[in-house]
Amino acid sequence: MNVCTFTYAHLALLVSVSGAIGRSPVVGLLCDIFKSVTALNPSKSSSDYWQAINGTMLRFSKAVADQWQVEKMASVESLAIAKENALTYLANERARIMAMSHEQALTALVRALKIQDRIKKIEAISTNGIMENVLTHSVGAFNEEAFLKYEKSPDNVLHCGFAAGEAGVHPTQKPVRLMQALIELTTQEGQVVLDPFCGSGSTLVAAKLLGRTYLGFEINPAFAAIAEDRLGLGENQQASLFA
Ligand SMILES: C[S@@+](CC[C@H](N)C(=O)[O-])C[C@H]1O[C@@H](n2cnc3c(N)ncnc32)[C@H](O)[C@@H]1O
Repeated sequence: MNVCTFTYAHLALLVSVSGAIGRSPVVGLLCDIFKSVTALNPSKSSSDYWQAINGTMLRFSKAVADQWQVEKMASVESLAIAKENALTYLANERARIMAMSHEQALTALVRALKIQDRIKKIEAISTNGIMENVLTHSVGAFNEEAFLKYEKSPDNVLHCGFAAGEAGVHPTQKPVRLMQALIELTTQEGQVVLDPFCGSGSTLVAAKLLGRTYLGFEINPAFAAIAEDRLGLGENQQASLFA
């Protein structure tokens, strides 16, 4: 209720009327406009809003109504000029294109479609880690062969639940089968899998089953003990890892 929006044309009208009849009646008109906006019922319809403002302005005085006509003519004229300019520009563009040789037209089209920029972007992608992983090492998001070991058809959703008797050792425990699928999609045998928040060790168990080297951290000694147990690790085996 404290904001009143004007178009440029409304402001221009107020300024030109103030030149014709003086500043103080126009300040009065502005106050009337604020009041008419305040009295409006809240609505999402902008036409109610503009009708209220226009009505208040037109009823205010003959000077305003006359100047309104002048402004209206000016906006009709400026619209006609803008249309004319745009059509002239497009006609010139059409003539320029029609005068091109076949070779020039193809070069202009390649430039307009920004083909070179797009090629550069795609070339840059081929050197980032994900694409390199997919193309060079056959692992990553598009490793269809690995994916099809877990799902019947290529998709981007894995359906992996807990095996019987597996769940219940950690409040946010993940199914080993899910971790296996993700590890197979993203690594190869012999590579290292690190889980810095390993909880009950599901990721590490999956890595072990897949012949990956694994390393985990767990702050809670009770969960760390569960992870060690699931991995069949005794103290000596742990020590050998860090020896
Ligand atoms: C979401 S759980 C992991 C669950 C695990 N994926 C599983 O299947 O059991 C995250 C674990 O990170 C551990 N954690 C939190 N902060 C840690 C820290 N600073 N260092 C090591 N472990 C931390 C928590 O104790 C918790 O067990």
